[in-house]
Amino acid sequence: MDISARKGDPTQQPCDILVLDAFLGEKELTGASQAVNEALGGDLAKFQKEDSFKAKLGATFLMRTNGKIPAKRVLVVGLGKNEDLTLESVRQAAAASLNVAKVLGVKTVASVLIGAGSEGFKATDGAQAMVEGVRLADYTFTKYRSTKKEKPSLQRFDLISNQGQDVRAALKGVEMGEWMARGTVFARDLVNTTAQDMHPEKLVETAKSIVKGKGALKVKIYDRAALVKMGAGGILGVAQGSDHPPFLVHLTYKPTKPTKKRVALVGKAVTFDSGGLSLKPADSMMTMKCDMAGSAAVLGAFSVMTDLAPSCEVHGIFGAVENMPSGKAIRPGDVLTAMNKKTIEVLNTDAEGRLTLADTLTFASRLKPQAIIDLATLTGACMVALGEEITGIMSNNDALVTKIQEASSASGEKMWRLPLEKNYRKLIKSEIADMQNIGSRWGGALTAGLFLEEFVDKTPWAHLDIAGPAFAEREIDPYTHKGATGHGVRTLLTYLKSL
Ligand code: BES
Ligand code: ZN
Ligand code: ZN
Repeated sequence: MDISARKGDPTQQPCDILVLDAFLGEKELTGASQAVNEALGGDLAKFQKEDSFKAKLGATFLMRTNGKIPAKRVLVVGLGKNEDLTLESVRQAAAASLNVAKVLGVKTVASVLIGAGSEGFKATDGAQAMVEGVRLADYTFTKYRSTKKEKPSLQRFDLISNQGQDVRAALKGVEMGEWMARGTVFARDLVNTTAQDMHPEKLVETAKSIVKGKGALKVKIYDRAALVKMGAGGILGVAQGSDHPPFLVHLTYKPTKPTKKRVALVGKAVTFDSGGLSLKPADSMMTMKCDMAGSAAVLGAFSVMTDLAPSCEVHGIFGAVENMPSGKAIRPGDVLTAMNKKTIEVLNTDAEGRLTLADTLTFASRLKPQAIIDLATLTGACMVALGEEITGIMSNNDALVTKIQEASSASGEKMWRLPLEKNYRKLIKSEIADMQNIGSRWGGALTAGLFLEEFVDKTPWAHLDIAGPAFAEREIDPYTHKGATGHGVRTLLTYLKSL
């Protein structure tokens, strides 16, 4: 499907579906809707009224035009109340229109710039949100289907405006939206791929393929022997039970203009989390291919890094491992020595993510970045606290949190800050080592965050616990279907672009 922005009069569009937008509670049609209604001899207003159409966010109203205008059908998408309009409403409304177009199996859609009638609306940002909504709603994962769908029916999705200035602005937004969506889809594919195919070696191969042919990107791979030399006891310990070898992957992006600004993105990369000897119950294991979603978000961001071309240096780091039980696996009670020489009593082998992050965060802080952001499907406790759709942020730096929250709200990826309560540090004190890898029964997301803090060496750092939003067990919104979501990629890219 091609998406583009162009100048055009909505009443004169030869297409299968013409998309118009509407605000909840606004009686009078305005702008393009008014023009189309007139061209249809008042049918649009008449039928909407007859069907009692309410323009709630994501609601749709479809009608045939009976040859009165070149467009075969008009689809009105609801935006909710005008005063509540955000880029997320635009994203969802555009996605809703794409979903209707797919069900109908049509070839061409022309859409007005959704939300453009609202105060403070920027055509660039609106077009970006539309493209994200459309592309992400259009995503399907067919790798394991024997009958792949023939060519998708939808060929064009045009964003139209009769104002040349808006079209120029929208074209920029379309480009940005394509990058955001491409990075997100990249991450979704990695996470949806099953653990039998997406193992540590495959993550390494993926990192190599991203940097291939791109001068601004580099990757360095540390194998088991190198990890032993570095003293990466956390990564090595978790990988011990698996037949797949562990790797530490270090990606680097250097902008063309030299800079001192440096950011490190760290991802949890457990390609399958069985729990190890502290084996998970069968039901909890079913979706544990998603336990590398943090690294998928980092790889997704790197997959479009040279397009986005941020002005800061960016490092991507993850420790790729599989957490399996076996005669070689770490035992509950074993003590590991992490890369920074701190010792960890492993009381539960299912709290493995923090063991690998201990080393990757140490590695990241040695690069002396101005900020480290880690993304990890770290705790079920974070899902208990915030549910399936919201990421927990834990951080030692308020300014960094503010920046991440701005990026998160622009991208529609929901995040909420949780405290790094000092008084809970006692909960991860060990009887025999420097610390233990589990806390008490309560506040598990926070004790996990406090554990990670031991490895960042005072660098401004934010930990994003994405256990809930990384993988959707049900339909979340018009552009987030069941399965991997690619959550985090757009927040990361938006953050990097803002530096
Ligand atoms: N990968 C899991 C966390 C998880 C749970 C991610 C559900 C996505 C969905 C993590 O390694 C884990 O098992 N955490 C344990 C920690 C506990 C043993 C302290 C948990 O949350 O139960
Ligand atoms: Zn686990
Ligand atoms: Zn895990």
